[in-house]
Amino acid sequence: NAHPRLAQIFPSLVRHLHDFAREVNLTVAEWSAAVDLLNDCGRMSDDRRNETQLLCDILGLESLVDEITSKQLATSTTQTPSAILGPFYRSDAPFLPNGSSIVQDLSPAVPWYEQAQADSAFLSGRVLSTDGKPIENAVVDVWHTAPNGLYEQQDSDQPEMNFRGRFRTDQQGRYALYALRPVPYPIPDDGPAGRLLKMLDRHPNRPGHIHFIVSADDHRPLTTQLYDSRDQWVDNDAVFAVKDELVVKFEPREGDPEARWELSYDFVLGRC
Ligand code: DHB
Ligand code: FE
Repeated sequence: NAHPRLAQIFPSLVRHLHDFAREVNLTVAEWSAAVDLLNDCGRMSDDRRNETQLLCDILGLESLVDEITSKQLATSTTQTPSAILGPFYRSDAPFLPNGSSIVQDLSPAVPWYEQAQADSAFLSGRVLSTDGKPIENAVVDVWHTAPNGLYEQQDSDQPEMNFRGRFRTDQQGRYALYALRPVPYPIPDDGPAGRLLKMLDRHPNRPGHIHFIVSADDHRPLTTQLYDSRDQWVDNDAVFAVKDELVVKFEPREGDPEARWELSYDFVLGRC
């Protein structure tokens, strides 16, 4: 007995693939180059690096399936839009008290010390249900890169779990934390996905972004990203993940020695 969903998907996949090959007059040599590319992606991938996912991302495929999936699951149009998870999530970030910082070990010895001070940012807001009611005890899981553009697990100079944390909302549904204004950075382009980008004369840059997974009882978890409106790549993301509703403006923060910038953002979760 054929798998029912596969029985639905596969004929369509084959039809589109064949139409594509006919449309471009695909040659054996070209098909063979694509097989090599996929094999290279697989060989390069491990726990720390998912090159096949990266290949899908520069094709816009992860963003597309994320959009299709979130639309199917949406119970309300007021929900915060989703964005791709990306390859650098870690599921076991430390739980931190509201108002604390995800920036670890910031001393003058750290190479990006000055930039981290200039980019220091206070993030706060509420987690709401689509009826507008605040959700207590929601979990806000947040991660971003260091000012050098590397996530902690890409960079042996950073402490474990640097720039990652999980926060629980209070009775008013509020979360608050210190982080950094995110910097733009290139997706890893030293492998087959990067080679393909160069052959296409495309750049590897993503606009500065902060990742979030927001979850709460009786609600659908939200995987999303916020983008800095002043970023030069915000209209030109190498992996096509930016959505207008997720573009935010950091404002100067007054009277707080811990942060030069602030951002207030409410996340709205759909019920399940
Ligand atoms: C990709 C996504 C990210 O969020 C990131 O930081 C790097 C790469 C990606 O889609 O490949
Ligand atoms: Fe990212």
